[in-house]
Amino acid sequence: MKAIVQSKYGNADALQLKETDKPIPGANDVVIKVHATALHIGDYYTMLGSPFLLRLMMGFFRPKFGPGTDVAGVVESVGANVTQWKPGDAVFGWCKGGFAEYACADASQFARKPEHLSFEQASSLVTSALTALEAVRGQGKVKPGHNVLVNGASGGVGPFVVQIAKSYGATVTAVCSTRNVERAVAMGADVVVDYTQEDFTQRNETYDCILDVAGSRSLKEYRRVLKPTGVVIPIGGSPNLLRVLGIAIKSMFSKHQGAPFVSMPNTEDLNTMQELAESRVVQPFVEECYSLERTADAYRYIGEGHARGKIVVQPARS
Ligand SMILES: NC(=O)c1ccc[n+]([C@@H]2O[C@H](COP(=O)([O-])OP(=O)(O)OC[C@H]3O[C@@H](n4cnc5c(N)ncnc54)[C@H](OP(=O)(O)O)[C@@H]3O)[C@@H](O)[C@H]2O)c1
Repeated sequence: MKAIVQSKYGNADALQLKETDKPIPGANDVVIKVHATALHIGDYYTMLGSPFLLRLMMGFFRPKFGPGTDVAGVVESVGANVTQWKPGDAVFGWCKGGFAEYACADASQFARKPEHLSFEQASSLVTSALTALEAVRGQGKVKPGHNVLVNGASGGVGPFVVQIAKSYGATVTAVCSTRNVERAVAMGADVVVDYTQEDFTQRNETYDCILDVAGSRSLKEYRRVLKPTGVVIPIGGSPNLLRVLGIAIKSMFSKHQGAPFVSMPNTEDLNTMQELAESRVVQPFVEECYSLERTADAYRYIGEGHARGKIVVQPARS
């Protein structure tokens, strides 16, 4: 089968399309024919091997696994112990080596694809969406009536943050650049601030929760628009170790600063995303699809930091 392989850390030139062996499922595994693999910014940092700490998980000198985690496709074969899936089922979930014609993972790492969504949209419901869910529900504890601001509302994670916060009954202000204002309104944001025209930290509005996807402002600036009980949840920004450590230390001393977190995919949250999509609470936005051959171009684009929704690779198109 065709797959993207990476034999060393580096820029997108390190990604190569090769012929590899089709996976064989272990007793608890499922092999899917991959129709779509969504890219997330973590894939990009993994490709670079930076920040260096990431190599503790991914391999010290070279990546231990093929790139690509967020997939949607059709079940091709199942292991002897798998009862919940059968060949032909349409699923989405997470795996290793997802930029390939076939992918293999434990059966619990998949959920049923929402029928009304394309495979491209379904593949988008994994890392970025689960991060948004953890930020809104777990870290931010957003409740009905909360006034919430999402800084960085238009990329891979932001649209999910806006939609999930709305579904929790919050009034949502979305911060994005001019070209994304209409999209933010379509996502259901109550107020949209174009950060190229207006500084939201100078507005006469205060928030219970600021969900910081862009990581573009300091806690001092955010404090101007936080309620006395308000909190900033750090989702994104530079993964520089000193910056992340700084946020972690501030979170120990300030009730306004949430601690950095890493969202780990799990079956329960994947099923929650499936339900949120099925009930039309969450609508994934796919900006562009690339063929497997052009995976490196997809990485280059996402690395620029101005994606408008999700970027997806389509192995079945090749
Ligand atoms: N904690 C976790 O588990 C976890 C998981 C996934 C991602 N993340 C983090 O979340 C962050 C966002 O990921 P992503 O996939 O959404 O990235 P992305 O697709 O590159 O989106 C970044 C967004 O930030 C916006 N932006 C850039 N500069 C801005 C500014 N000054 N003010 C407001 N918005 C600005 C961009 O919008 P414009 O084009 O309009 O400027 C873009 O839409 C990353 O830093 C990533 O590391 C964390």
